[in-house]
Amino acid sequence: MRIAMIGAGYVGLVSGACFADFGHDVACVDLDEKKIQMLKAGQVPIYEPGLDQLIADNVEAGRIAFTTDLKPAVAAADVVFIAVGTPSRRGDGHADLSFVYSAARSIAESMDGFTVVVDKSTVPVGTGDEVERIIRETRPDADFTVVSNPEFLREGAAIEDFKRPDRIVIGFEDERAHDVMAEVYRPLYLNQAPILFTQRRTAELIKYAANAFLAMKITFINEVADLSEAVGANVQEVARGIGLDNRIGRKFLNAGPGYGGSCFPKDTLALVKTAQDHNTPIRLIETTVAVNDTRKRAMARKVIAACGGAVRGKTVGVLGLTFKPNTDDMRDSPAISVIQALVDQGARIRAYDPEGMEAARQVLPDDITYATSSYEAAKGADALVIVTEWNAFRALDFDRLGKLMRDRILVDLRNIYRREEIERHGFAYKSVGRPGEDIEVPGPGSIAS
Ligand SMILES: NC(=O)c1ccc[n+]([C@@H]2O[C@H](COP(=O)([O-])OP(=O)(O)OC[C@H]3O[C@@H](n4cnc5c(N)ncnc54)[C@H](O)[C@@H]3O)[C@@H](O)[C@H]2O)c1
Repeated sequence: MRIAMIGAGYVGLVSGACFADFGHDVACVDLDEKKIQMLKAGQVPIYEPGLDQLIADNVEAGRIAFTTDLKPAVAAADVVFIAVGTPSRRGDGHADLSFVYSAARSIAESMDGFTVVVDKSTVPVGTGDEVERIIRETRPDADFTVVSNPEFLREGAAIEDFKRPDRIVIGFEDERAHDVMAEVYRPLYLNQAPILFTQRRTAELIKYAANAFLAMKITFINEVADLSEAVGANVQEVARGIGLDNRIGRKFLNAGPGYGGSCFPKDTLALVKTAQDHNTPIRLIETTVAVNDTRKRAMARKVIAACGGAVRGKTVGVLGLTFKPNTDDMRDSPAISVIQALVDQGARIRAYDPEGMEAARQVLPDDITYATSSYEAAKGADALVIVTEWNAFRALDFDRLGKLMRDRILVDLRNIYRREEIERHGFAYKSVGRPGEDIEVPGPGSIAS
């Protein structure tokens, strides 16, 4: 199959490279000249484990190429994927579809022969209809059909997710698209990955419903963490206790500083807006959004409390800036709100992240000191906060850290350490939803009804 991938970002690059690895002939198109120049020079503009090698192998095999010139790539393609961004629209929280619609217009002007246009970007229900209308209006003579094929990969494990997906969802309206999409995903088909063929609108909703459910699950355990702190329970054991029930499942039950990233915040908000527009508000997700928004700054208050109630003039070392490990993506990372709130309260920040520092500089307040290691971030710090659970932070040398710090306080917002382990090194230790450090466990009689 000849594939054109419009948008060479996290999703477009990974999908394009994986399709090429399946044996398809892929052209990755992006408007961003700098990105395409880098790719042509053998560099990968994002950090995603294994992606550089996968791209290099497929460039060498002549199966993937990069270009800013959409026209020939689309004209030659049997299948054109739209993998452009769909950020929140400023002001109202609806998904901003301007990149999708603009790509649709360019595709319409360039397509040649029967073409399957596949929307891989996350888009509200009905966007496929609108893309179809735009193409038809631009090119009334075009022979095409529009498919919805939402992407479920996770940054940091994107290649593995793409090649071994839990499921592939394909929403189509024209029987010809069924056969083309089956061919595109044939290697996964042979691996028995479940493929769900459904209607286009249903496929579009599946993506939002999936992300909203996961965001709700995280938010649920975060609220249970707060309750655990108040009543003297251990949220990790509560999570295990409920997660062993197959109907609940163990994943996505790690309490922490709130969800962030390039998907959950904008997708939950877009679903809320779509549901309100259709007069069927999804209150569970409205609440999820609100709870998560307040949680991030609440985590800063936890740090302030750990520092004795004030951070003015104090130095806080922050370990981990990206919204999760194994990515350089800073979009809506909880670290942004936590750091901003600490800066607002007069703290000086020394921050370190294994891959996200360059992206962090674009979004964090100016007067932050960027360190080159965890230990440098700890130098002269009054407290150290783990915001993102990179592997590099899982086996820190606390004796060494303690000697570098002014005061030995560790706030572990990802619960990656055990209290005894840290206290042994003379640190005060605060975590999320685990008792003992900052609460007095009330007797059963003292709980107000
Ligand atoms: N990042 C994820 O983990 C993830 C996972 C699943 C789904 N998604 C969805 O996939 C979509 C893309 O997300 P992303 O993270 O890859 O975004 P991204 O911002 O990393 O990449 C989008 C790319 O599209 C390019 N672009 C925009 N308009 C273009 C046009 N008209 N022609 C050519 N290129 C154009 C931009 O320059 C950019 O490089 C979004 O809808 C997102 O919600 C993302």
